[in-house]
Amino acid sequence: MAQLWGGRFTKETDQLVYNFNASISFDQKFYAQDIKGSMAHVKMLAKQGILTEEEREQILTGLQGILDDVNAGTLEISDKYEDIHSFVEATLIDRIGEPGKKLHTGRSRNDQVALDMKLYTRDEILEIDALVKELLNVLLNIMKENTETFMPGFTHLQKAQPITLAHHMGAYFEMFKRDRSRLYDIHERMNYCPLGSGALAGTTYPLDREYTAELLGFYGPTLNSMDSVADRDYLIELLSALSTIMMHLSRFSEEVIIWNSNEYQFVDIDDAYSTGSSIMPQKKNPDIAELVRGKTGRVYGALMSILTTMKGIPLAYNKDMQEDKEFVFDAIDTAKGCLALFTGMLRTMKFRKEVMENSAKNGFTNATDAADYLVNHGVAFRDAHGIVGQLVLYCIEKDIALDDMTLEEYKAISPVFEEDIYEAISMKTCVEKRMTIGAPSRAAMEKVIAICEDYLKDSEKTLA
Ligand code: ARG
Repeated sequence: MAQLWGGRFTKETDQLVYNFNASISFDQKFYAQDIKGSMAHVKMLAKQGILTEEEREQILTGLQGILDDVNAGTLEISDKYEDIHSFVEATLIDRIGEPGKKLHTGRSRNDQVALDMKLYTRDEILEIDALVKELLNVLLNIMKENTETFMPGFTHLQKAQPITLAHHMGAYFEMFKRDRSRLYDIHERMNYCPLGSGALAGTTYPLDREYTAELLGFYGPTLNSMDSVADRDYLIELLSALSTIMMHLSRFSEEVIIWNSNEYQFVDIDDAYSTGSSIMPQKKNPDIAELVRGKTGRVYGALMSILTTMKGIPLAYNKDMQEDKEFVFDAIDTAKGCLALFTGMLRTMKFRKEVMENSAKNGFTNATDAADYLVNHGVAFRDAHGIVGQLVLYCIEKDIALDDMTLEEYKAISPVFEEDIYEAISMKTCVEKRMTIGAPSRAAMEKVIAICEDYLKDSEKTLA
């Protein structure tokens, strides 16, 4: 056991208590951020005359050495320390002696851990953003290549109206674009530095908090020392954003699973992204999509967990808040893994265009257009709806599509139909006539694709 705070105590901590209290097994994940934060703190202390230039150099060199050695794997983060902060400080004192004991001047582990977690989260947000951006690039490529790949659009998982694969992928593009903007918002709101808030009430040293904030790339210092050490809102926001990303990935996965089923056969998942069965030789399972769908629950769980942990905590720091870490780390790693794998699966997935197109033809997806045809010939929509309902019934009985009916058969149900009905309900017409922005026609999609392309090029409103 190695503790920073032994002075006031007359007995050793019980081993079980020590283990229960310790966080080193998981907070070592942000050792780099902890050291980086300490370096900024030391530079500020020296600038303010609280440390000498010599002490500054000794401590900075010592900290850099620790960082290099941990990075290189030559210095092991030992679990005989309570947390990562104790490990770094004790190792520093071990290596450079007296000056090391001054590292923690004007600082508490409360503002230190608040800083570390923010720095860690900020780095991760950038990585997550880059992964979502990569997924958007893959989506855009599929969109560009498939503005005339017809498929059924569904409501209630029943064939509804024909759309294109570009249009379907475009829906996901919008979802993941909103996800990026949520990440951006979180970054903007959280990017203020808590260091210098001390345990809860600031410190008596003449710290320059603006300077530390600037050194660490923050927009400025946080404005209330109590809030600074007690705020975990940004983690809740991040878990909420990650939950939404996972929800989107999960819906998408569900579609891939359906599309990959023997009944649909809309897609072929690449062998590299599917798995077999130990008993059934014919199987090629969409395990990656299923795992992504399954792991969504895990990320939701993290959000619920931290919301619940935070709800009863009085100001300012309380040890409950140590529970913010494991779930957040797990949720971040899970979401990153899912994003990377899903993107790889999508990039290599083959779309069976003929199967999709045939499926759209065989599900009366042009029934609305047949009704619109009648409306354009002076029939009221409600009556048109009824007439086309009769057509559909007739087709179901004969097991044919609307396109297969003869003009005589049409006319038997309504005399309004003429030869041009076939053109009016052809798949191409059904899609091409939907020209308003956001609709599936090629012309409308091309406008949207251009906007998507500009969006991906314009890095101003995004993080990557
Ligand atoms: N391990 C602690 C945490 O993660 C660091 C802060 C400890 N502060 C304290 N006063 N015990 O929250």
